[in-house]
Amino acid sequence: MDCFIEEIISELTLPVPKLQELSLRFEEELENGLLRPDAMLKMLPTFVFALPTGSEVGKYLTVDLGGTNLRVALVDLLGNHKYSIRKDSWPIPDSLKSGHGTKIFTFIAQKIEEFLAHPEIEAELPLKLGFTFSFPIQQESLQHGCIMGWSKEIECADVIGQDAVKLLQESLHQRGLDISVEALVNDTVGTLLAQKYRDDRTGMSVILGTGSNAAYIERCSEIKKQNFPKNDQQLTLINIEWGTFGDTEAEPLLPLTRFDVTLDSESKNSKQQKFEKMISGMYLGEIFRLILCEAVEKGIFNWTGTDETKPAASVSPYSIKTKDMSDFHEAFVSENREKCLEIIAEKFKIECSTETSDKIITQLARLCESISLRSCCLCAVGITAVYRRLIRHDIIKSTDLFTVAVDGSLYQHYPNYSKILQELVCQMTRGSDEACCRIVLVMAEDLSSVGAAAAIAAIENIK
Ligand code: GLC
Repeated sequence: MDCFIEEIISELTLPVPKLQELSLRFEEELENGLLRPDAMLKMLPTFVFALPTGSEVGKYLTVDLGGTNLRVALVDLLGNHKYSIRKDSWPIPDSLKSGHGTKIFTFIAQKIEEFLAHPEIEAELPLKLGFTFSFPIQQESLQHGCIMGWSKEIECADVIGQDAVKLLQESLHQRGLDISVEALVNDTVGTLLAQKYRDDRTGMSVILGTGSNAAYIERCSEIKKQNFPKNDQQLTLINIEWGTFGDTEAEPLLPLTRFDVTLDSESKNSKQQKFEKMISGMYLGEIFRLILCEAVEKGIFNWTGTDETKPAASVSPYSIKTKDMSDFHEAFVSENREKCLEIIAEKFKIECSTETSDKIITQLARLCESISLRSCCLCAVGITAVYRRLIRHDIIKSTDLFTVAVDGSLYQHYPNYSKILQELVCQMTRGSDEACCRIVLVMAEDLSSVGAAAAIAAIENIK
């Protein structure tokens, strides 16, 4: 058992010099993405030109379509960096995740109607709506954007190329709802705007949830691949779509293991989003499961499930969730042996005898730790690349604090994830100055709707 586990852990381990090398390459790709429309990173202009100051006021309806949940909220921006929010959320039914994409928009309109059924919310009508859409969109204004593709195992090809705002607006009209969609933002953009509303030093946001991605503040004059105001002072936001880092390389750029290769080839979007597949919550549990499959095949662990569900790459994929891994790791860290054994029996279905259980618990925890640490490391690669770019281009000063808003279930709940990520970005940017790390990661829990509201309010402030 020891040899097998050690070998896998060493494959999953990324030493700091390798991370630095990847981060430099990432920085080059940031530049390429601003120069060329066919670059590895999409680097999508967001058409956000008015950044919130925290003084904005107004009530807005918001909708946030993620990879797992749909959230509807009434956001009241109160000014003075304050807001109140009333929200509801629903899991996106699996039946909507493939087939006709219009079903998703009908579902959203139906849930908005349910949300408005509360008399005190309905009384606020007509309302302007900020739409957070957690998938890549090609925008030509803040109010429009074509769906470029899906990810996170959603596959509704028929709406690719269509305007997400138009699709939503039509579904709302069909229900006779007096709501106009005034802003379309990616979840990274919504999170950045919301944190900017709370704290002016914010320059970047990262999502570590079902998917992973980031956005940051850029100068319009740097976006050379399309016509933009060339005024050097004008700032905007870029949705990096960082999940595609490594996708277009003939020679693999990312240190993929055989488990990453299998996961990718079995996924709905094979050869796409390879970086995301090594980082985000949709996939970590599956990487862990694929390792367990190999361990069972090699007789290192004994499988206790039925023959039909015997682990194999193609049998019951995604049956171990990142949440199961996270719960197990949490139980291990807090020395809750009973809970560890319960998860091993019920979720991992690995045999544990009295003699072997301590060893099995420790080895499984080490695997979980390595998979989650690798995710943290790759995320730090992206954050530090953006940070260096912003300093090099004089958008921030190396002496200033740089706030990065981070949201997503992995960051919020995976044991020690946030702490380790903070340590890593410091380690990678500190240089010789041991005492000083200027990057501050802050939890921006479920804030993207506040950002979508702030996007509308910030334009209204200018008018
Ligand atoms: C996926 C989507 C991206 C989104 C991210 C986090 O990577 O492509 O648009 O921001 O997930 O939800």
